[in-house]
Amino acid sequence: MALFSILTLFPDVVEAYLDVGVLGIARARGIVQANVVDFRDFSRDRHRTVDDRPFGGGPGMVLKPEPIVEAVEWIEQHHGPHRRIAMTPDGQPFDQKMAEGFAAAMIADPPVTTDLPLRPGSPSSVLLLCGRYEGFDERALQVLDFERLSIGDYVLAGGELAALVIVEAIARLLPGTLGDSRSAIEDSFGDSADGGLDHPHFTRPRVFRGIEVPDVLLSGDHARIHDWRKQQSETRTKAVRPDLTQRLHPKG
Ligand code: ADE
Repeated sequence: MALFSILTLFPDVVEAYLDVGVLGIARARGIVQANVVDFRDFSRDRHRTVDDRPFGGGPGMVLKPEPIVEAVEWIEQHHGPHRRIAMTPDGQPFDQKMAEGFAAAMIADPPVTTDLPLRPGSPSSVLLLCGRYEGFDERALQVLDFERLSIGDYVLAGGELAALVIVEAIARLLPGTLGDSRSAIEDSFGDSADGGLDHPHFTRPRVFRGIEVPDVLLSGDHARIHDWRKQQSETRTKAVRPDLTQRLHPKG
C-alpha cells in the first residue's frame, strides 16, 4: 500500500481526479491512500495569504515558506515522514523508469501492522508539493530537503497536473490496481515494448469505415502476432521517437 500526501491550493480539483478511473479503483481497493491538504489552511494571517512579492523585484508572486513548512510538519506528525518532492519545471525529469523505481520501493516495503496504515518513514509515503505563481521560496525546499521533479520541458500554471501524473504513473504499476497485470508491462516504454513505443491496438468491429483489422491479429498464431507487434513497435519508435531507438538497440 502506498500513501500519497498532496499539498495544493486546489484540493477539490485534485480530489476529484483521484476519485475516478484507475486511481479511484486503487483507492477503493486500499492499494493507494491519498491525503490531500490545502496549505492555505496553514497561513497565519486573516487573509489566508500564501504568497508575497519577490525580493529583488520582477514579475509574479512567490509562495511563502511558512505555510508550506508548517503543512509538511503537520502531515508528518500525523502520517510519519515522507519522501518529499516539489513539482517544478526545473526538477529532474520524471519518466517511466522513475515510476518503476517508486513502485518497486513501495512493493518492497509493505505495512507492518494492520491498524497503522504505513510504517513511519517508509518509502511508501510520498509527499508531492504543488506550486502556483512564480514558484516556491527556495528556503521551504531547502529546510525540508525536498527533491524536485518535472514532468516535461514546459511550464504549467501549477503543480497539480504534474503531481497527478506522477501518482497515476506509479499507482498503475502497483499489484492489484490494473485488472490484468500484463497491462502495465506491455505499454509504451514497458518491457515488452523494449523501452520503445507501444504497438497499435484493435478491437471489434473487424472492419471500420473500410479499414480492416490486420489479418495477422485474427490468425491465432501467437508467435506471428508477437513478431508483428514487435516490428510495429520498432517502426513507430523510429518514426516518432528516434531518441528512444538507442534504448531498443543499445549496441546498434
Ligand atoms: N509546475 C509547473 N510546470 C511544471 C512541470 N513541467 N513539471 C512539474 N511541475 C510543474
